[in-house]
Amino acid sequence: MKILITGANGLLGQKIVKRCLQHNIPFVATSKGANRNPDCPETHYRELDITVTKEVGALFIAEKPTAIIHTAAITNVDYCEQHSEECFLVNTFATMVLWEAAKLIGAHFQLVSTDFVFDGEKGNYKETDPVGPLSIYARSKVEAENVLLKDANTNWSIARTIIVYGTGNNLSRSNLVLWALDALPKGEAMKLVNDQFRAPTWAEDLAYGCIEIVLRKQTGIFHLSGPETFAVDELVRKIADFLNISEPPITTISSAELNQPAKRPPRTGFDLSKAYDLLDYRPKTFEESLHLLKAELELTGL
Ligand SMILES: NC(=O)c1ccc[n+]([C@@H]2O[C@H](COP(=O)([O-])OP(=O)(O)OC[C@H]3O[C@@H](n4cnc5c(N)ncnc54)[C@H](OP(=O)(O)O)[C@@H]3O)[C@@H](O)[C@H]2O)c1
Repeated sequence: MKILITGANGLLGQKIVKRCLQHNIPFVATSKGANRNPDCPETHYRELDITVTKEVGALFIAEKPTAIIHTAAITNVDYCEQHSEECFLVNTFATMVLWEAAKLIGAHFQLVSTDFVFDGEKGNYKETDPVGPLSIYARSKVEAENVLLKDANTNWSIARTIIVYGTGNNLSRSNLVLWALDALPKGEAMKLVNDQFRAPTWAEDLAYGCIEIVLRKQTGIFHLSGPETFAVDELVRKIADFLNISEPPITTISSAELNQPAKRPPRTGFDLSKAYDLLDYRPKTFEESLHLLKAELELTGL
């Protein structure tokens, strides 16, 4: 067993590295540019820009991983809407290149995907529900999924997730929960939508699920998120409650008023039955994870 992680400098990538180290799972961490995670030993890190095809092939042959967990992506949905060529290059084309390389060495390939593949009309989505992407980012992920779904070789898995939160070292982007934990005590005014419903996902739970798929030699699509679905404004109010802030300066607005470049699905959230049954996936409640997150922030000063 040897897991190759792409996007190891990102939030999920760092949590997968952490879990591999904790459980003595052999791994090689790769990301674009230098290692920005001081918790990842340099001996386990290789630079890899996944859009450079010949680098992918050379690294796979040198490292001979038995499984790839592909977390790297352009994850800024509005950036993707305005840079579609770059978005499809990184999120779709590179997935195809990695999958072809994985097949050549007989390795399992896991793509980390998103709730945004759905149109958000139904909510509580099962793995078998039809997709309906609303944005360039969502289409880039659907097309990446299709690379796997249409292949006769089934040695792949897709782990779809929803708003991921947690701490990380030198992350290139923050996440909603960390941002709110920082902004609320400062009394910063916030405009939040009340018509987008999401199941926030504790990054450590997601890392467990992704690795467990590989360890249990599972294939196919898995939905991995937190167990509760909230409106975005409700989610931040829960954080305010947790911090004992009684009247947070939150203005509730609609998605139409917010008018972001990329269209978002109104209601996602996942049916987690398959992950419960096949992976023993038991994600923390939002409140449980806030306690852990607070303790971690106090300990590390991140
Ligand atoms: N975060 C969410 O709320 C969320 C929700 C649903 C699905 N997902 C999916 O979950 C996965 C992990 O998300 P995350 O939150 O960990 O994202 P993240 O923190 O943005 O990490 C993505 C990583 O990919 C790296 N990357 C970008 N382009 C690359 C390239 N050409 N070659 C190599 N690495 C490259 C980035 O490098 P730099 O750090 O150097 O930019 C970053 O470290 C993604 O596939 C995302 O689509 C995330």
